[in-house]
Amino acid sequence: MIFWLLFLHLLGAAIWTGGHLVLALGVLPRALRRREPGLIQAFEERYEPIGIAALVAQVLTGFELTRRYFPGFRGLFDLDSPLAVAALAKIILLILTVSLALDARLRIIPKLGRDNLGALAWHIIPVTILSVAFVYVGLRFRFGGLPLP
Ligand code: HEM
Repeated sequence: MIFWLLFLHLLGAAIWTGGHLVLALGVLPRALRRREPGLIQAFEERYEPIGIAALVAQVLTGFELTRRYFPGFRGLFDLDSPLAVAALAKIILLILTVSLALDARLRIIPKLGRDNLGALAWHIIPVTILSVAFVYVGLRFRFGGLPLP
């Protein structure tokens, strides 16, 4: 069971982080250079359903994996435990990611044009950095978690 949970979690991670790296490093610079929002819209149209499915899979498998470390979520807020800090870091990354994604989806994308491409870039870049941070923090679990200084 844990094997398949991790398998799904890693597959979702590949899609979410990989997709955002392609968007931020491959599509966005060209769209900004040419001032062509259509390039981002074309990518988003194809990627969005797969990306959202991957993020939902991450949340479901992620919470189940967290429950394995903290049965009944007991000890999750014990900041002396590096594993609890890593788990809380994941939850904070999730809140930041969802807030940025919703803001982009509801406020910027419906009116996307040449003039607000920059605003969209300021969402794509942080969401991509957060997606890499998800992988980093996830991997820390194997190395004892994230100790606070
Ligand atoms: C897009 C979002 C996410 C990405 C890209 C991601 C990525 C990863 C990666 C690469 C690992 C390392 C797996 C390993 O060492 O074999 C991991 C582990 C983990 N993730 Fe995530 N994760 C995401 C979201 C979440 C969420 C939302 C939670 C829970 C709130 C979560 C909880 C965990 C836990 C508990 C582990 C440790 C699993 C273990 O080693 O047994 N993740 N994650």
